[in-house]
Amino acid sequence: MNVEFYERIWMWMAGVLIVLFLGIIVAGAALGAIQPPSHIETVDPTALDTHPEFSAPEVKTNADGSVTVSVVAAMFMFTPDPIEVPAGKPVTFRLTSGDVMHGFHVIGTNANAMAIPGYVSQFTVTFTRPGEYVIACNEYCGIMHHQMVGKLVVTQESR
Ligand code: CUA
Repeated sequence: MNVEFYERIWMWMAGVLIVLFLGIIVAGAALGAIQPPSHIETVDPTALDTHPEFSAPEVKTNADGSVTVSVVAAMFMFTPDPIEVPAGKPVTFRLTSGDVMHGFHVIGTNANAMAIPGYVSQFTVTFTRPGEYVIACNEYCGIMHHQMVGKLVVTQESR
């Protein structure tokens, strides 16, 4: 089969572009540590009031210095707020929702997950820069969605 020289060039360019675009997605996900949720744990969203962990969500320091933060997102706030965690230590967030789907994005970091009623979203991050961060809900959840913000305070590492 004879393929014209210029047609061959265009075919190769199309192939290169496909590889390039897929490569950008893979590289971006790998470098930004972006990953699909992998932690499947369910919770009864109608019984959070009596749940041992989520009835009083709080910041817990573990024996090894790492921190576990339980968070309930519900119209239109995060509990607890503010959340205070140390810099340089692994922080495991455990999120759930008391009503509809909410977002939980620590602005300026790659800490970003959905809070889904009935499920516990869990992820671990280590914050290197101390300071105050805004936590934004980035799933449209109702009339006051735009007001649903929380505060994360990352404190200086104790030496
Ligand atoms: Cu909660 Cu938008």
